[in-house]
Amino acid sequence: IPLADLNTLRLPARAERYAEIHSPEQLIKLIERGDLATQRVFILGGGSNIVLKGDLNAFVLHMRIPGHMLATELDDAWIVRAGAGENWHEFVRWTLDQGWGGLENLSLIPGTVGAAPIQNIGAYGVELADRFFALEAVDLRSGRIISFDKDACQFAYRDSLFKQQGAAGRFVITAVSFRLPKDWQPVTSYADVASYLEQNGIDAPTPRDISDAVIAIRSRKLPDPAKLPNAGSFFKNPVVTQAQFDALVRDWPQLANNPQPDGTVKLSAGWLIERAGWKGRNLGPVGMYEKQALVLVNHGDGKGEDVLRLAAEVTAAVEGMFGVRLEQEPVLV
Ligand code: EPU
Repeated sequence: IPLADLNTLRLPARAERYAEIHSPEQLIKLIERGDLATQRVFILGGGSNIVLKGDLNAFVLHMRIPGHMLATELDDAWIVRAGAGENWHEFVRWTLDQGWGGLENLSLIPGTVGAAPIQNIGAYGVELADRFFALEAVDLRSGRIISFDKDACQFAYRDSLFKQQGAAGRFVITAVSFRLPKDWQPVTSYADVASYLEQNGIDAPTPRDISDAVIAIRSRKLPDPAKLPNAGSFFKNPVVTQAQFDALVRDWPQLANNPQPDGTVKLSAGWLIERAGWKGRNLGPVGMYEKQALVLVNHGDGKGEDVLRLAAEVTAAVEGMFGVRLEQEPVLV
């Protein structure tokens, strides 16, 4: 089965075996029949956060479990639940259509509901962990459904239990639920969001206003994968100590930075890559996007090896200039 249409970087690769999963029961049946025992398993969601190195000697399970609903109404919140295969943005818009705020800052992020917790998606001042309630996953070892609460998921910046060894490839997320507070407060801390609202004369924004702002900002800065294949931010924003930051800022007074609650400082990988000369620059068929240097784009027939070559060049350039080592964000498969 060719996978080029199933990953947003449009990297060519073939899967040895492939099945679409439409329900947890279907997955459990595959486990009980022993179909997954003899082969490596790879779980595919929207394919928007992966780099396929080459053909996959694996059984690819394409998660298509549908559905979204109000699971419970609490005194102070709505608990909403969605199947792993739901499109993330469509799910966010559905919650907004119901009048429930909370996920609006995460509008227009590509991918599926089931993939969202794995990298703890985040944007414009909100991350999934802030709104997360619980998830259900099938344990491929036992064939049982396990519930994970927020603590169990070990969320961190672009990270969770499900990216870590042992858990990655073992737990298949089938449904995720979110806690949307009735006492909704807008998050407008991000400068781009605040200035959009100001320019549009909105001083008491609704969840939908913020969603519209985020959609406008993202559309301006980030390439649509359907038009220019990409996997969003290709590197994490690196975190340095205060001492490292002080040393760097002496040489680079403009250094974009974001102080963290724990005393460390998060730098902007996009800023570092731009200063290192890679914004809008190509290497063969792939390049760093001209409007946001953090996004690696595939201009045509790029392959996994082209992506890795460019990533290595960019990492070396940034390390040479700033002594900061970038870490790749999408999962290498
Ligand atoms: N910058 C540059 N040059 C660039 C890009 C950025 O100088 O080419 C500087 C600018 O100073 C800008 C700052 O970096 O003010 C931050 O840039 P931006 O607001 O675009 O956000 P980011 O830090 O580059 C992160 C997330 C995005 C998320 C935005 C908004 C990561 C790895 N990326 O990007 O997430 O949408 O913040 O919250 O944390 C994704 O993960 O795929 C993703 C798109």
